[in-house]
Amino acid sequence: AKLSLIGVAIDLGAGTPGVSLGPSAIRYAGAIDKLTGLGYEVKDEGNIMANKPISPKTDGIKLNNLDEVVRVNTELCSKVAEVMQEGRFPLVMGGDHSIAIGTIAGVLQHKKNLGVIWFDAHGDINTEETSPSGNIHGMPVAVSMGYGHERLTGIGGKDNKLQTDKFVFIGSRDLDAGERKVLKDLGVTVFTMHEIDRLGMTEVIERAIKIAGDGTDGIHVSFDMDSMDPIYAPGTGTRVPGGLTYRESHLALEMIALSEKLVSAEFVEVNPIIDNNNQTAKAAVALMGSLLGEWLI
Ligand code: ARG
Ligand code: MN
Ligand code: MN
Ligand code: MN
Repeated sequence: AKLSLIGVAIDLGAGTPGVSLGPSAIRYAGAIDKLTGLGYEVKDEGNIMANKPISPKTDGIKLNNLDEVVRVNTELCSKVAEVMQEGRFPLVMGGDHSIAIGTIAGVLQHKKNLGVIWFDAHGDINTEETSPSGNIHGMPVAVSMGYGHERLTGIGGKDNKLQTDKFVFIGSRDLDAGERKVLKDLGVTVFTMHEIDRLGMTEVIERAIKIAGDGTDGIHVSFDMDSMDPIYAPGTGTRVPGGLTYRESHLALEMIALSEKLVSAEFVEVNPIIDNNNQTAKAAVALMGSLLGEWLI
């Protein structure tokens, strides 16, 4: 199979700098060898680069670095759509989680009825109104469902949006008050750490694959490294204790691979500046292996 590796060197959606170096860290951790070793014909598309914002705040708008986040995600959306047009699997590496806006908008150009499994300690479903920080990496889920600033929701087309009942969260443990309400109102499925503890990852991921995979055009996996416990992924800007173990996260991705419903994926929030010997990028590469079929023999 053909696969395109797309780096997005941006940290303007996050509160902590450095995650723009994530794509390089993931390449140094051996992503291309890993994927080539799995039999993929890998094309490294290089990085989409964010510039330093000229004015981080647009007048009267609470969103940080809006102009540049919109520009980068618009470019990413086109790139992902183009790669899929060529029959290649898009594997996006971040970068902060705001890049899910562009990735998902691009995938939606080809897969209108897309299911999503979103691994994250956070909800990332804030809008300008509910956000405690103004950081756009806390908003991509809202935007991809059609909620938020029109310059963000306009990327890839206003009508190209996700269905809330085909979206699943896994690993949640730090949801803002406004996010809890929105999640309830929209009826989105959330498997918090509590459900993972009680049901076990096998049951949780089987249910998630059903919700995101049955009757859809396929599943997109958005993997925020902070879904893992900080013991395994210390190099990420918004660490929350009590996360997924190394084996739980691999098991989940292996079972998604087995479902044969995966159409696109992204690994985000790898920040080498605050990491421990590139441990988090190495974890991301190992997870890519599991998601892309390393254990299917
Ligand atoms: N909920 C917080 C916020 O809106 C943190 C978001 C963290 N998001 C992430 N992709 N790491 O600012
Ligand atoms: Mn997160
Ligand atoms: Mn929080
Ligand atoms: Mn996130």
